Amino acid sequence: MKRRDALKTAGLMMATLALSAHAAEESLIVNRLEMKPQDAAKPTDFELKHLPQITLKEKDASGYTLVEITVGQGGIIHPSTADHWIDFIALYADDKLVGKNTLEPVISRGASSFAVKLDGIKTLTAKAGCNLHGIWTSTLKV
Ligand SMILES: [Fe+2]
Repeated sequence: MKRRDALKTAGLMMATLALSAHAAEESLIVNRLEMKPQDAAKPTDFELKHLPQITLKEKDASGYTLVEITVGQGGIIHPSTADHWIDFIALYADDKLVGKNTLEPVISRGASSFAVKLDGIKTLTAKAGCNLHGIWTSTLKV
């Protein structure tokens, strides 16, 4: 095989690998529908498993309060497996984005925290995205 042919073959192999990787990424299911409990006063276990829980922790010397978000309520924790996991958590203070964390499956689960200056803030809203079951929202009055 001449050098030119070998380079052509290698180039074709690289292109094929790149296309395969892209196809694998595309085949991952990502559900971005906005979800909410059918009856907010009485969520099902499935709904509890997806609803983010917002917990206010300590305030530091600079006035930032640690806001912890975990996905799952009532002792029901959302799973984190290779094909089903919480892929992001975002926090809003009075509808202004505080931050958004992207989470990887298996090695992490649906939990994140942000240090937030809560002066004058009335509500905190957390959004959690399950790759299979959509985006779930919880709100906490501060
Ligand atoms: Fe889920």
